[in-house]
Amino acid sequence: MAASKPMIFVTRRLPDAVEDRLRRDYRPLLNLDDQSYSADQLIERCADAEAVLTCSTEAWPAAQIERLPAGVRAIATFSVGADHIDLAAARARGITVTNTPDVVTEATADIAMLCLLGAARRAFEAEALVRIGGWTGWTPTQLLGLDLNGAVLGIVGMGRIGRAVARRARGFGLQIHYHNRTRLAPDLEQGATFHDSLGSLLPHCRFLSLHCPGTPETRRMIDDRSLALLPRGAVLVNTARGALLDDEAVLAALSDRRLFAAGLDVYAGEPDLHAGYRHQRNCFLLPHLGSATVETRDAMGFRCLDNLDAIFAGRPAPDALN
Ligand code: DGY
Repeated sequence: MAASKPMIFVTRRLPDAVEDRLRRDYRPLLNLDDQSYSADQLIERCADAEAVLTCSTEAWPAAQIERLPAGVRAIATFSVGADHIDLAAARARGITVTNTPDVVTEATADIAMLCLLGAARRAFEAEALVRIGGWTGWTPTQLLGLDLNGAVLGIVGMGRIGRAVARRARGFGLQIHYHNRTRLAPDLEQGATFHDSLGSLLPHCRFLSLHCPGTPETRRMIDDRSLALLPRGAVLVNTARGALLDDEAVLAALSDRRLFAAGLDVYAGEPDLHAGYRHQRNCFLLPHLGSATVETRDAMGFRCLDNLDAIFAGRPAPDALN
């Protein structure tokens, strides 16, 4: 590391091991109270920074990137998704943006399965029944859910996380169909059935799980039209980005049981999700926990620091996005 350590502005509280490494190798400006900074506060705190270590909770649109001081050379995001950063605007300013691929894959796939099972087996209603003392005993018709075994799981976006979900789902007896921009090679496809359009995939899916990035192209991909193509009584799982759903359309389908249930970990406008979800009993809702394990959050922080180490040593950043 250079004699004078670069200053890194860190927007959120990070795991101890990550902050320890930051203190060892850099001059970090930490957020020990884990405050939510306004756009102006973010810029103020960047005054002497050479890099920003941000999370998906902070937005870096073009207008915000243009306000960054000239000394900022890098933005390392503690996330695999980078939809909160305008990559082209950063490139125009000569700022390298990096993310944390690979390390979030397994934990996020676990949460997708939790959402799928939680929705299919009515975990919210069941848990609530036990907790409020309303359970009067076993009955043959109580809280019946859906079998996974033998059903079709459609996966939209067969990247690392989509494939990790497919791997787990096969263990539950699900048959995998998928839609992806390009068809995978047979060793990655593992017998899954490829569809070259969302419209071709949807009619096959009792379960549908979304694993594509939040982009202008994928925004509100699950709308009235696509919901109408799903078989009646399907289950929708979203652990990718909230913007993929047209919330009004999904809530209408949940209300009239065209959708049996939804399992959601992400929401448009987080943390202010559409209030309709909170009142819907056939929803299993988590607060964006995809990567929230001790091991994964440490690995995400170390991945950010590996990228910053490379940039400040004059090497290409392994996870540069722009
Ligand atoms: C990710 O890694 O993109 C998670 O959604 C956290 O932002």
